[in-house]
Amino acid sequence: MKVLLLGSGGREHALAWKLSQSPRLTKLLCAPGNPGTAQWGTNVPVNAESPEAVVALARAEKVDLVVVGPEAPLVAGVADALGAAGIPCFGPVAAAARIEGSKAFAKEIMAEAGVPTAAFRVFTDVAEAEAYAVAQGRIVVKADGLAAGKGVIVAPDVATAREGVRAVGAMGSAGQRMVLEELLEGEEVSLMALCDGERYVLLPLSQDHKRVGDGDAGPNTGGMGAYCPVPFLTGDALIEAGERVIAPTLAALKARGTPLRGVLYAGLMLTKSGPKVLEFNARFGDPETQVLMLQLGEDLLPLLDACARGTLVSRPLVQRPGVSVGVVMAAEGYPEAPRKGQRIDGLDAVPADGRVFLAGVAQKEGDLVTAGGRVLTVCARGDDLVQARERAYAAVSAVRFEGMHFRSDIGARGLRASP
Ligand SMILES: Nc1ncnc2c1ncn2[C@@H]1O[C@H](COP(=O)(O)OP(=O)(O)O)[C@@H](O)[C@H]1O
Ligand SMILES: [Mg+2]
Repeated sequence: MKVLLLGSGGREHALAWKLSQSPRLTKLLCAPGNPGTAQWGTNVPVNAESPEAVVALARAEKVDLVVVGPEAPLVAGVADALGAAGIPCFGPVAAAARIEGSKAFAKEIMAEAGVPTAAFRVFTDVAEAEAYAVAQGRIVVKADGLAAGKGVIVAPDVATAREGVRAVGAMGSAGQRMVLEELLEGEEVSLMALCDGERYVLLPLSQDHKRVGDGDAGPNTGGMGAYCPVPFLTGDALIEAGERVIAPTLAALKARGTPLRGVLYAGLMLTKSGPKVLEFNARFGDPETQVLMLQLGEDLLPLLDACARGTLVSRPLVQRPGVSVGVVMAAEGYPEAPRKGQRIDGLDAVPADGRVFLAGVAQKEGDLVTAGGRVLTVCARGDDLVQARERAYAAVSAVRFEGMHFRSDIGARGLRASP
């Protein structure tokens, strides 16, 4: 099979690495890709967010399957255009990807489908929202639209709630509508499923680390590290979460005539009264995918292909034993203003049990240099979380670039929960 992978981050490097192990793969193209995906496929300088350009490339190369990494191509309608051209696509049509792009739409689907989530109300009037927030006191304020991780304010008191509503209201188009919801407490985890519009298979449960600093200090980022599987929700309880969250959501989207073929990613809060959905995404998480690919014990390509064609068989996936940990190494100034162009050294000194997935990296005259905020994810698998962390951090210590920073506590929450 000839596969075209869209995107250029650490997630795509990990997907390219995993896909290239498939005996069914004949050729892998990546658009636009990065120096990491170039190790496993051929990078093509095509704009992944242009439906016309993607369809033209897929046609010219007689691609059998397109795999979409990031959300931007989905929102732009790449899956719709591929569908119209008769080219199988792993990644949902724009109307289904709205479950990520609009928080109010996601809440509407959840209410309709009976998915456990925080109690909420949707507002279009800032003054009304403010009055409600002040009356509630403890609340979470969310801009409706995509806001690059800056559209959510968790407000534990009246003053923060009032400020939050005003800030989101002043955000422009993303904040014209806002969702105000109950503030939940608990462990936050990422539940991802590969879906064919109707059926799904669950990926191992993972946990991201959103804040830039140790102990969850500092501003939000795209994600500073992940590990999987996590010990907080396992066995029958995990299967039940799939049945209560993934299954009804897929059914609701299908009933609207826009089935979701791709990843349904539920951000869950494990509250005292069970798992509740904080948000949905319509694509693989980054950096969770890097560790998921290390843990997946079977061929990824037939699974993605079956999702794209609507022929997935529901069953438990084969997982490799042990635990995987991934630590993101970020550029100086990330997340506010990442500095670019620093030479990256030491990648060839990474021990054999470590694996590095490149993200914001460019090739410059034979050197690899930083080219984005999250530069790379350094991963390792171990028999348990302790060993996986040791190996991952040993690999981290081999890599150097000026101004680099990373969290030293990836997986620490899981460690506290393990016996
Ligand atoms: N209802 C809630 N209660 C408590 N914390 C929340 C709630 N909703 C979101 N959060 C926190 O805010 C973060 C961002 O919210 P999320 O809905 O995932 O938006 P986005 O990822 O688009 O910024 C979550 O990762 C979580 O830590
Ligand atoms: Mg989120």
